[in-house]
Formats: sequence, structure tokens, C-alpha cells
Amino acid sequence: MSKMALSASIILRQGLRCGRIIQASNTAMVSQLRPLHDDQAVLPRLPVPQLDDTLNKYLKTVKPLVTDEEFHLTEEIVKKFGASGGIAHRLQNKLINRAEATENWLSDWWMNAAYLDCRGPLVVWSSPGLVFPLQEFRTLDDQLNFAAKVIAGTLDYKIMVDQKTVPVERMGKDTLDMSQYFKILGTCRIPGVTRDTIQFYGQSVHPPKHIVVAHNNHFFKIDVYGKHGEPLNVRQLVHQLRNVVERSTHPAIPVGILTTQNRNVWGKAYKQLRKDKTNKASMEEIQRCIFLVALDGPVVNPTGNIMTDAALSCVHGYGPQGYAGNRWYDKTLQFIIGKKGAVGMTYEHTPAEGPPVANLMDHIMDYMADVKKDLQLPAIELSKPQRLMFNINPDLKQDIEEAKVALESLVGDLEMTCFKFTGFGKNFIKSQKLSPDSFIQMAIQLAFYRIHNEPGAHYESASTRKFLYGRTETIRSCSVESVTFAKAMLDKELPVNEKTAALRSAIEAHKNYVKDAVNGLGVDRHLLGLKLAAIEAGMDVPTLFMDVGYLRSSHMRLSTSQVPARCEAFMCFGPLVPDGYGCCYNPRSDAIFFGTSAFNSSPETDSATFREALEQSLLEMQDILLRDRVKANL
Ligand code: COA
Repeated sequence: MSKMALSASIILRQGLRCGRIIQASNTAMVSQLRPLHDDQAVLPRLPVPQLDDTLNKYLKTVKPLVTDEEFHLTEEIVKKFGASGGIAHRLQNKLINRAEATENWLSDWWMNAAYLDCRGPLVVWSSPGLVFPLQEFRTLDDQLNFAAKVIAGTLDYKIMVDQKTVPVERMGKDTLDMSQYFKILGTCRIPGVTRDTIQFYGQSVHPPKHIVVAHNNHFFKIDVYGKHGEPLNVRQLVHQLRNVVERSTHPAIPVGILTTQNRNVWGKAYKQLRKDKTNKASMEEIQRCIFLVALDGPVVNPTGNIMTDAALSCVHGYGPQGYAGNRWYDKTLQFIIGKKGAVGMTYEHTPAEGPPVANLMDHIMDYMADVKKDLQLPAIELSKPQRLMFNINPDLKQDIEEAKVALESLVGDLEMTCFKFTGFGKNFIKSQKLSPDSFIQMAIQLAFYRIHNEPGAHYESASTRKFLYGRTETIRSCSVESVTFAKAMLDKELPVNEKTAALRSAIEAHKNYVKDAVNGLGVDRHLLGLKLAAIEAGMDVPTLFMDVGYLRSSHMRLSTSQVPARCEAFMCFGPLVPDGYGCCYNPRSDAIFFGTSAFNSSPETDSATFREALEQSLLEMQDILLRDRVKANL
């Protein structure tokens, strides 16, 4: 295989879980929206890190994951790559020029490379689920009432977005970029045959005034504003939802299931669908709507763990045998309201990270708790929900059947274990003068080492929203120090003070990486930039990106993220690689919510085993800290 073909094949293979990949992209620009608050244009620009700093940091992250011999080779490759006057310096200059010419040198590249160019399915591989606090519905009324309040709460939130009054978030002293808040309502990803696009209808001259409700695979358009622009109140929304349910008692052909397909396949089917005027009009209503609400039936194939059941419903809707046809996965926001109380949402990741979506959920929960909101006046003149029709010809029927088969295998492969860890929460960790996030990350490292007896490359998302249009940087949580710590914990002979010293040192190393990452000085986005600069200039992809050190350290066996929320909720997603784990958490004062996942097809991984190892690790870490303190006081 030629060098160029080899690089292309590596790049394509890496295009698995979006948002967390490094993949080729061409340079077409994705237009930016202005930040939520006009004065945010003064936010600092994402820096281009110093080349030597990145390469040194990179080597440190490779070390724990390769043999001495492999590391020596990686060192040689890095040395050659970064030699003065060499290729890396030429690429670095290109990045510096790009940073001078754009508001954010990475953001357009990132949107394409991490999302729109990815050809894998959105389901499992890209779109996270967000499980709301568990509910218990006894009747259809309960379900519809809850759904109506979710709609009303979101419309209430939309007022804040439209009026630019969402409180500006901060990280320490720094103001964060709020532009993602602008991008989640009225947005939809549009499938393409080789690359998708994204449409921000909410920001158009005629923004949408409707939502779409899915029930039994039927889609209905509901106008949610009255004659004078006033939102429908909860009672009116319940009335509209009941009308939808009454008019869709039997399942329709699940056209929505096409959105679960590989993007090239869906892109082709989409072109066919659009040839029919009725289909085109119906799809446009779905794409343009403010958000979608899926009214589901009961849990399918319950696991015995209601948190896990709710997570699966948010991630894949229990597949073709369940409610996967009762979705439109291209839509940024889809609320899912199960018949018995499994509720949450699935969100398409292209326009935003978890925090704006989790904030919206917190707002909805506050809205529901505020009884005064029930007194909202009715809107004038309700129009009947409009059924969105589809004409399905035999070719499309065949496409739907193929989508079912593909999804069935994906659903069969994913397994999840979601739980509330009640041993302790942030308060205990803070009382030890340790960072809760770094502590949890080290517990995840230890859990992995405990199961596999080797370290796993480990991705954690860090926010770079300090910078204009900032998104994320990777925290490479696996370090020389994290491995020393894991080994120390598993060594029965080691005195407790040495274990706590290893823990504190691993946490310190992680915290330092976090500091760099949130300041735009991580390894991964800079390397991505250098690679894309080479591709854009028509150059060969540098050897560094084909080296075992690079491949091993970016084969993220642990894909993790903290998404905090004020309510008892958690986010969840599939693993990034076939032999990996997904692990998302919401640390609260006295507990931690976890959503974990793995693939059945990997004989090495199992999310229930991971949960056990993680809980054991957390408890043992608490134990050594407490024992060490007692000893110190003796
Ligand atoms: N002693 C006592 N308290 C400490 C401490 C210490 N040594 N270190 C930290 N704390 C406190 C902090 O002050 C903070 O207090 P608060 O709860 O009053 O705010 C709290 O502990 C949490 O800090 P920490 O656990 O260190 O993490 P963080 O909140 O700074 O989060 C990241 C770290 C990396 C998760 C965060 O910076 C980030 O980037 N989040 C976004 C991730 C994202 O986008 N995810 C979505 C992807 S879809």
C-alpha cells in the first residue's frame, strides 16, 4: 500500500466515534453564528500551542502505553518531525497564519472532522443520551402532562435564549463562550452522500414556530405559539398531544429509522425520499422544527435496572423492535417520554457539547417544580396537529428494512450499566483537598488497570470555551503517574502512605493536564491541526501519525466525560473503540451518577464488571485516604 493510501486508510478507520476522533477533512468553512452575547466577541482567541511544548507533552502521554523499544522509535520520529527547519515547523507556520486569519483556527475544521465528515451512524457512535430524573407514570395523562411540561419548559428557556438573558457561564475568573446555546434549538443535521451539513433554522429570518411530536412512528407538526406569539400553556399542549395519540394508534412504517443508518447510506436514501414532494415537505417540517418530542411505549426487554433502561431508550430507543423508528436522529434535540417514566433526550452532537443541553434540562426541571407556571394564560386559536405524510415506494421500503438490520446488530452489540454511586460525592473528595474530577478520573484509570492488568489510553473532554467559539480539548488521563498509582493500589504489601502519595501525585499530574487543556494547550487538537494543515497543502500525512505511539495513545479505550447537572440526571454514550468503555458522570455533593457502556462483541470488556471495579476503586481510594489520616494523627 502506498504511503498516501496507508494514511488515508488509517484516517478512515479512525472515523468511528465522532467528536472524539482525528479524521481527515477538507477545509470548507462552516459559517459561525455570533456568540450569544454581543460583548463576547472580545473573548480571547484559541492559541496555537508552541510546537516543542506539544511534542514533549505528547511523548509523556505515549510512554505509559508502549514498550521501551516502541517508545525509542516514537522519540526518533518525533525528533525528526520537530527538527528545526523540518516539516512540523512548516505546518506550524500554516497554523499560525490560519489563526491570524480566522476567529478560531480550529472550529470549522473541527465541525467537519469530528462530525460532518464522519460516516458512521449517529446512534451509539455519536449522539449521547441524557437521562432525566426518573419519573413514575401510571396513566397516559401522567405521561402527556410530563411531556407538555417539558415542551413548556423548553419554550420558556427559548425566551431566555432569544432575549440573550441566559446567564453567562464562568470557569473561575474567565467568562465562557455562550455561542453553543444559540445552536441547539431549531437545528438539524442534513445527511449528505460524502459529508453532512448543518442547518440553524432557529437563526433564520423566519424561525420555526412549531415542534414535531412522534408517536408510533407517525410524525405530527404542532404549532406551539398562538396568534400573538404567546406560547401554548400546559393544558393546551396536553390537548394537542392527546390528539396526536388518538390519531396514531397503529404503528406506521418506521421511516425515521433511516436516520440511524451509516451516513452515506442515509445520504443516498435521503436524496430518493426528497424526490417526492410530500416526503420533501414532511422532512422539511421535521428538520425545521424547534425540537422533537417522542412519545414512547413501555421499556422493551427490561434489564432490571431502570436507570440503564432509560439510558438505552435515550441512546438507541431499543432498536427496531422498540422505538428507533419513533425518532429523527438528525434533529439536535429529541425529548423522549416513555410510557412508564423513563424520560430523557438524545442529542445530535454536531452543534454543542453536553453542558448547554444539561442546563436546559435543569431549567425544565425547575420549571416543572414552579407551580405558578401552571397559571400561564391560554394562547388564542389552536390549530389541529398536522400529520406529516410519507409516500414510501418499494425502494425506500427496502432501505428501511436494511436500516433495521444494521441497527439491530448495533443495538445487540451495545451494553450499558448505569448507576448511582452512593459511597460519597464531591464533598468527601474536596474535604481531602483534592480535585473531585481528577479523583474520579484516577478511579476510572484504576478500574481499567484492575480489570485488564495494563493501562488504557483515556480520553476526557475539557472545555475550551474560554476562547471564542471554543469547543473541547482532550485530557489524556493515562499518565506515567496514573499507572504508578494503579500499580501501588493493587500492591497488597505497599504501606498506605505510599499509596496515598501515589494517588496525590497522579491527581496532580491529571490536574496539570486539565489546566493545559482548558487553556487550549493540549496535545490532540494541535496535532490534528498539523495533520489537517498537511492534508490541506496536499502533503503526505507525516509519519508521526502512523507510528505505534500515536496509534496506541489515540486508541481511546476509555472515553469519559464529566457532565454536571443540578438534578439527579446523567449523560451516557457508547464506547469510542470496539474494545473500550464509555463512562460519563455527574458528580454531586454526596453521590456520583455514572452511565457506562461497552460492546458485547469484545470478549475483553463488560460494563457490569467495569461498574464493580469502579465502585471498588472509589471505595478503596477513600479508605486509604481515611486510614492515612488516622495514621498521621496517631
Ligand atoms: N481542594 C478542594 N476543592 C477542590 C480542589 C482541591 N484541591 N480542586 C478542585 N476543587 C473544587 C473546585 O473548586 C470546584 O468547586 P465548586 O464545586 O465549588 O465549583 C469543584 O471542586 C470541582 O472542581 P474539579 O473537580 O477540579 O473539576 P472542574 O469542575 O474544574 O471540572 C473539567 C474539570 C475538566 C471537567 C472541566 O474543566 C471541563 O472542562 N468541563 C467541561 C467538559 C465537557 O465539555 N463535557 C461535555 C462533553 S460532551
